[in-house]
Amino acid sequence: MDINAIVYTSATGFTARYAALLAERTRLPAYELAQAGTALSKRAPVLYLGWLCAGGIKGLKKAAARFDVKAVCAVGMSLPDPAYTAKLALPAALKQVPLFYLRGGYAPDRLTGVYRPMMALMTKAVTRTPPKDAGERAMQDAFLHGGDWVSEQALTPVLERLAER
Ligand SMILES: Cc1cc2nc3c(=O)[nH]c(=O)nc-3n(C[C@H](O)[C@H](O)[C@H](O)COP(=O)(O)O)c2cc1C
Repeated sequence: MDINAIVYTSATGFTARYAALLAERTRLPAYELAQAGTALSKRAPVLYLGWLCAGGIKGLKKAAARFDVKAVCAVGMSLPDPAYTAKLALPAALKQVPLFYLRGGYAPDRLTGVYRPMMALMTKAVTRTPPKDAGERAMQDAFLHGGDWVSEQALTPVLERLAER
């Protein structure tokens, strides 16, 4: 797959780390979406990474309006699950583009603005009842204390796809 750069949006740093790992492995430059406009030409072919916010991939619409988005990575705190990835909404124009889910992390202390009260509400909702199984317990723990699941290994399918013609 021919791309010129990696473009990303990150609020608390997990997506930025995946972008940096990908840049290192592919030797391509990585730019924050906010800065990418000046660094790259319009319609430049890129891989886009955005963090998940209420089921939506942050910055994707903006990125697609400016660049030729060839593949997308959604970074969230949910456990990797193909059914969840399949449900993530992509803009109509990107329906054919490969989409990957990467588990990032959760850093409540680094949240700012509206995201803080939003996640406080989510945490209350998620931890209201005792966990039914180990998975729920892990999720409640993540909401309460945060977590970091960034792994180089998670990038294998992305790197394989990028290596294809
Ligand atoms: C307001 C808000 C909504 C979120 N919604 C989702 C979601 O729908 N699915 C998910 O897997 N993670 C969700 N998350 C978790 C973030 O996507 C996760 O923490 C991600 O790693 C943040 O990446 P960043 O550090 O690059 O900002 C949400 C986080 C916040 C603050």
